[in-house]
Amino acid sequence: MKVQKAVIPVAGLGTRFLPATKVIPKEMLTIVDRPTIQYIVEEVVASGIKEVVLVTASGKSAIEDHFDYSFELETFLAQKGKLELLAEVRHISRLIDVVSVRQKEPLGLGHAVGVTEQVVKDEPFVVCLGDDLVVSEIPCVYQMLQVFEKYHESVVAVQRVPEDQVDRYGIVEGEEVEPGVFRIDRIVEKPAPGSVRSNLAVIGRYILRPEIYDCLSRTLPGVGGEIQLTDALDMLRNERGLYAYAFDGVRFDAGDKFGYLRATIHFGLEHPDLGGRFRQYLKEIADEL
Ligand code: UTP
Repeated sequence: MKVQKAVIPVAGLGTRFLPATKVIPKEMLTIVDRPTIQYIVEEVVASGIKEVVLVTASGKSAIEDHFDYSFELETFLAQKGKLELLAEVRHISRLIDVVSVRQKEPLGLGHAVGVTEQVVKDEPFVVCLGDDLVVSEIPCVYQMLQVFEKYHESVVAVQRVPEDQVDRYGIVEGEEVEPGVFRIDRIVEKPAPGSVRSNLAVIGRYILRPEIYDCLSRTLPGVGGEIQLTDALDMLRNERGLYAYAFDGVRFDAGDKFGYLRATIHFGLEHPDLGGRFRQYLKEIADEL
């Protein structure tokens, strides 16, 4: 079964980033010159995915508009001869086909994935969290698709985290079946430090078999009273199997203020026009710190 769709949940309230996110969706906060969500959609496109299913909520229409065709703006830029900007704007609206599904209440990530069942139906699909950025030579989703095609079971992306931070993540335990690939024996959401044998933390990239929908329909509210994707994944692990993949790359949690600052510095340094000047500036101020 070929993976053709990527579900991107963006219906959360973004409370960690208030007051910035009172009106502006956190996925639309700009990292240098693009909103976070655009970097994620570009990763998905570079991985060969043809369609994005956005899980949205009220107040999030700016995200759909960002990927839509803007007749007024394109006509204006064409008339003014601003061809570079026109190309940039066209590139965004032609990136990918976007379908939106509404999550009526923010009942948790598991619930957000569950509401896409009518659109995705019985195909395997990608899930990318709308505020998790991964920078890598080979797109993270593409790397994971290779693992999925080999094992034919669902795959979660993991990275090692300091032992005292395991309570911020879903943590997996399992056997390493080849370098960087683990067959999961246990997956647990936000465990207390010291209660798990592993520091492999799940980040916001998943390739899921459609059986996850049935597991989600049987998942009760868990940590924080939310329907946790991790709990449904544990059911899927038990009933079929589940793999973890330690991807090559660096991940930024752009939904968190500190993670967002790190991402801004990274992308600022890498930017083709601004990178050189920005590096020089950081060197100058580093001496004063
Ligand atoms: P987060 O927990 O990072 O998002 O969920 P949040 O709830 O918006 O953020 P905070 O913790 O209050 O700051 C990860 C992703 O899942 C989406 C979010 O939009 C985010 O992209 N999500 C979360 C939903 O779509 N629906 C939910 O009910 C919960």
